[in-house]
Amino acid sequence: MKKIVFLTGAGMSVESGFKTFRGNDGLWEDYPVEQVATHEGWVTNPLLVNNFYNILRKKLFTAKPNEGHCLIKELENDYEVMVITQNVDDLHEKAGSANVIHLHGELTKVCSSKDPYDSRYIEQLTEDNCDVAPGACAGDGSLLRPFIVFFGESVPMIEPAAEIVAQADILVIIGTSLVVYPAAGLVQYARPRTPIYLIDPDDTPAHASGRLTHIKKGASEGMKELMKRL
Ligand code: APR
Repeated sequence: MKKIVFLTGAGMSVESGFKTFRGNDGLWEDYPVEQVATHEGWVTNPLLVNNFYNILRKKLFTAKPNEGHCLIKELENDYEVMVITQNVDDLHEKAGSANVIHLHGELTKVCSSKDPYDSRYIEQLTEDNCDVAPGACAGDGSLLRPFIVFFGESVPMIEPAAEIVAQADILVIIGTSLVVYPAAGLVQYARPRTPIYLIDPDDTPAHASGRLTHIKKGASEGMKELMKRL
């Protein structure tokens, strides 16, 4: 089976009710990015950051995957499909995608703030129990924090993601401006003959690379168009 690799960003989840990052005056879901998505923001005011992710998590539990997510899952009938996402939502998983790598963490999980990657202290939250109480601690006694890669922190999943992109027979980029590194550098790992598609209703910096075919549509309509072309 051919291997098709998707690299998705905030635009993938727009049709499920989420907002993108850029183009909103530096706000993410109406909060300043530096307050809620940076390492400094977390250290300065963990309570505010915790509350923000509590709110976002509640929103996620009522959100549904859109047709774009579902069509990516459908391709598993004919391809080996790998999804690398910058999104912290779980809409690819909700659509049924079997292989999903989260570069920037997962909203449904919390972890130790001493060592976010200590698997003993990573907790999966459920819809009935998705609020982290102020001051709640992980098993190691440190403050529980969202399992999110904040700006200014390393991205441990980047290496496995690069290996996957390097094996792609087809690479499809959906809804990401590809301006945030190291994720933005992943495209360079594609083999020279691997066709690259970009699904995005707007021109993006990635679009400037002459190598890719731009399907200038939103995620759902773009996926329908892609499936006709494959
Ligand atoms: N379908 C597909 N793409 C869309 C849609 C849609 N319906 N609506 C908007 N887009 C596109 C925009 O045109 C834009 O190119 O989605 C892209 C979103 O880009 P960004 O807002 O920059 O989001 P993203 O690239 O995912 O951001 C990367 O930045 O803040 C950090 O960690 C955060 O993971 C995030 C990273």
